[in-house]
Order: sequence, then structure tokens, then C-alpha cells
Amino acid sequence: MNPTAPAYSPLNILFAVAMVVLPTIGVTSNSSEGANQQAHTTAIRDAAGQGTATSSSLHSELALTPPMGWNSWNAFEANIDEQKIRQIADAMVSSGMKDAGYTYLVIDDGWMAKSRGRNGNLVGDPNKFPTGMKAIGDYIHGKGLKFGIYEDRGHLTCQQLPGSFKHEQADMNTFASWGVDYIKLDSCFAENNGRLSTEDYSIYRNCITETGRPMVLSISDFGNGAWAWGGEDMAQLWRTSGDIYPWMDSVYHCADTSGGAQSIHPAFNGLWQFAGPGHWNDPDMLQVGNLKNDTQNKAHFSLWCILAAPLMAGNDLTAMTEQVRRVLTSPEVIAVNQDLRGIQGYKVYDAGDCEVYNKPLSDGTTAVLLLNKGRPEADITVHWDKIGLSGNQPVRDLWTREDLGEFKDSFTAHDLGQHEHRMIKVGRPGPPLPTPATMPLEKYAVTRHGETCLSDLYYIWKADNAPAYDAAFGGDPITVAGRTFKKGIGCKSKCAVMFKVDGRADRFRATVAMDKSSKEDAKGRFRVYNEDFFGNRVLWDSGEMRKDSPAKEIDIELKDVSCLMLVFDGDEVLGNWADARVISKSEGDYR
Ligand code: GAL
Repeated sequence: MNPTAPAYSPLNILFAVAMVVLPTIGVTSNSSEGANQQAHTTAIRDAAGQGTATSSSLHSELALTPPMGWNSWNAFEANIDEQKIRQIADAMVSSGMKDAGYTYLVIDDGWMAKSRGRNGNLVGDPNKFPTGMKAIGDYIHGKGLKFGIYEDRGHLTCQQLPGSFKHEQADMNTFASWGVDYIKLDSCFAENNGRLSTEDYSIYRNCITETGRPMVLSISDFGNGAWAWGGEDMAQLWRTSGDIYPWMDSVYHCADTSGGAQSIHPAFNGLWQFAGPGHWNDPDMLQVGNLKNDTQNKAHFSLWCILAAPLMAGNDLTAMTEQVRRVLTSPEVIAVNQDLRGIQGYKVYDAGDCEVYNKPLSDGTTAVLLLNKGRPEADITVHWDKIGLSGNQPVRDLWTREDLGEFKDSFTAHDLGQHEHRMIKVGRPGPPLPTPATMPLEKYAVTRHGETCLSDLYYIWKADNAPAYDAAFGGDPITVAGRTFKKGIGCKSKCAVMFKVDGRADRFRATVAMDKSSKEDAKGRFRVYNEDFFGNRVLWDSGEMRKDSPAKEIDIELKDVSCLMLVFDGDEVLGNWADARVISKSEGDYR
């Protein structure tokens, strides 16, 4: 991805196609089919104005569009066995799910025996899968589907079955020998590995490559910032959230981790700029069919489609109603999700309880979702100038598959009850419509030598309370021991915030203290981490600090740190990272 790429016009798209696509295809014409596919991806991205796929995204040919399939977890949790899985495989075909594009059948946690076999290899639970995992894989393949499986990078899975830690190559070889096509790699117990997430997932990436079998790698880490620390180089998709549950608050929360500001600085307007062919933000698997009614199922499905999210059905397909089947197989809504241009939809209007998403498509039209999340009734309007159009435009309803006629300057969805929405396609075929400019790298990563105040960079991931910039959490100036600091980060615990330093920072400096407005008995703790929580690599720890504790100076060396995470813990207390900054010694502009 080229984050500095400017918004484009139809003219420079044509220029990009002529200047970039032709040479790209020429260069790769002698190489493998995979490389040609890569060139194809590059061509699509370039034609779409999204910049060139990086050479590190070698495996991106595996998921040019968001993966579609079914996963056992949301329907059955660990209560799975081979009979159920075979019935699901049958139902995927007979229900029309396969024809609608659902390809992967992923067996989630609970498939393994409690201990490894005598040779140390993973084996299926002999009671649940008596004929073995290769046989179930063969059955799945026999149905024309692809075989997905769950593992965990810790020493145990979340269900406390054998994890892959220290068995990485052997397990990937086992999966390859069973004909696995897709691996969901979870992160329970990974904090004991002593490895950063980037180290861990790179190991798996290499082990998968080593098997010689193309297998999609799905990062399952509850949304710990893979878009920030390089998930694109290791995997085809990464979670942006904790687990999804079958109720709308959870659905909306998960959607907002990818499409809104739940997990990243609001200035990014969601994670759309980090997704594209071969690398997708994953707000977790579908609960369509497990929600209360058709309205909720449809709202959830439309959101995932406009977000270019992986579509992993999570309902019991053997007991699916016709109404749910129609939602999951709705062709024109799925086509939005699977559009080859691979743009993730982004919000163009957000009133909290009502929102409008826009997803420009490869044919020059654009898909728009108008959703009432919270009001008893609402009219929601999309103005053409917010989606790169003007004048009279044809509108088509993607659920009813009806042309609604031409609309001048805007379209209003009237009388939407709570959770109701319209999903429409606007415009005429032609050159692709522009997306907003992506956030330039220098706004969210260390790109120059000298000093960079962290509050001059947008954070790239956060958990719990969002921090204040250049102020204490309540908005007062940051004051430590009578001295006022212009720069710094104000936190209310808990607050974890990640900055992308891209290996370009040699030192981190700050002065930390509890905020003067904290309650008298306030206690807090400041910690600096290399990357995310899983690596457990604490670079600096204040220990417990009280309101009257003297400020502590931090001046530490950083080495090969891709992301720096500042964590402030305590019981709803305020603390400040005054003058938080990194120093880069190396000369030159890094862009
Ligand atoms: C969770 C994961 C779920 C499911 C579960 C299995 O960590 O987020 O999607 O895989 O583990 O135990």
C-alpha cells in the first residue's frame, strides 16, 4: 500500500493502468501462476488507485476478495463431530451457499484429541472424528469446498487443547498433509510464548511457505492491531475485535472496530485504508441466523458486505430457515462484498445511531448503506457530493433487486425503524469513483530523524479509554511538579495506545506522573511495551505510583521496535505521559 497516494481522478486511473499494469504483467510473464495472480492483484489495485501491492504481500493471491465460508464456532462452539461437519458440508451445497460463493468450511476449536499422538503430531479427537481429519478434509473437498481448520499459537488452544507453540513446522506440515486450505490461528496463552506477535506470525507464515501448500492464514488475536504491526506481510486477514455475540450491540461494536473509531484514531475514519485484495480487516464471523429477526440479520449482513469483511457464516446450516438462507445468499449484496476492486467501505455520515457507509465499486458505481442503529424511526439521506457524484443518478435497491429510478443530488431512506436499513447501488458504469485520500504515513508513523512527539502522530490502535493529546484527560494542561508541558498524552485508566515507530526510533523519552486532579488515594502504573500485549515485552515499568509520588523520567533505548505501546493502568484514575517523544538518530527522510 502506498499511504501517500493522493485521491485520484478518472484520468490518472487510465494513466496508472497504462503505465503500471502493462509493465507489471510483462515482468511476471515468465514466472509462476501465483506471480501472475499477484500481477493481477496489482493491476486491480492500481486500476483502483490504491497503489501497488507490496512485494511482501506474497500470499495475497489467496484472498483477492474477502474469504467466504462457514465456521463451526458461532453455531456449535466445541460441540462438533464428524457427522455434524459432514452434514454442514452437504448443506453448504444443497442450500445454495456454495453456489453463492461460500467456499471454506472451517472446523474451529474442539476438533483435537487432548494430547498429541505418539509421534508428537496433532490428531483429531478419536470420539468426535473417528475417521480422522484427513478423511473429513477429503469429504469437504469431495463436495467442491475448501477445508479450514483452527489452531492456536500458544501452548494450548482457548479450549485447552494442544496448541502449536514449539510445534509450528510439524503442525503446518500435518495440516498440509490433510489438505488444509485455511488456518485460523488463535492467540490464547500466546502471552507465555516470549515472542512478539510479529515474530510469532512470521514464523507461521514461513512454516506455511515451507510446506509448499498455499493455505490462507487468518490472524485471530481479538484485534490487537495487526493492521499496524504488519499483518499484511504475514496473513490474509486479521481480527479487529474481540468475539462477536448474537446480539446487535455486539454486531455494531465489532463493525465499528473496523469501520469506525473503536480501535484506531478517529482521524482514519476506520480501517479502510489497511484493507485490499489479499489482506482484510476481520470484524469476526457472522451471526446471521442467530440474531432475533430478519431485520437484524440483514443489517448485520449488509454491514459486513459494505466493510469488505470476510463472510464466515456461523449458523447451523442444517436447520436454516428459508428467510435466513435468502439473506446469506443475496446475490447483489454479496457482489458488493466480493467486488474485485477490494475497497473497504467507509463512513460518509455518522450521527452515532444513524450512519451512511460508501463503498466505490470496480464498475464505476458505488454501494451505499443507510442504517438506523438506534432511533425508533429515522429518515437518512446520502448526498451525492459525499460519494463523488452529482446531478441525476440511477439508484438500485440491492436487497429487492429493483431499480428505483433516478434521483437528483441525494437519496433519502424514509421511516427506517431501529436496525432497518437500505443498501443501494448508485451511479452508472464508468471509470472507478474516487476514494478519499489515505492518511499520509508521516501522520501516523515516525518518518524523519530527530525528535517526534507522539502526540503529533495519530495512534494506530488503542484499547479502553482514548487518550487526550497535549492535555490531561479532562482537558486541563499537563502539569507535573508545578511545570506545565505543552506536549504529552493524558490518560484515564485503563488506557493502552499504540504508535507506529517502524523501527525508526532509537530512544523513547517522557516524564510520567499521576494527574494533579486525581483523587487523593489514586494509584496508577505506567508501562512501555514493545508492540502489543501478546509479546509481553515490557521496556519500562513505573511500578505503582501514587498521586504524591515524584514524577519519573523515562529515557530508554529502542531497537527494532515496530510499534510502541504506552499502557496506563489503575482504577479510573488520571495519569500523564508528559513530553512523550521518540528520538531517531539516523539521517534522512524515511519515506
Ligand atoms: C476465541 C476466538 C473464537 C473461537 C474460540 C475457540 O479466542 O476468538 O472465534 O475460535 O476462541 O475457543
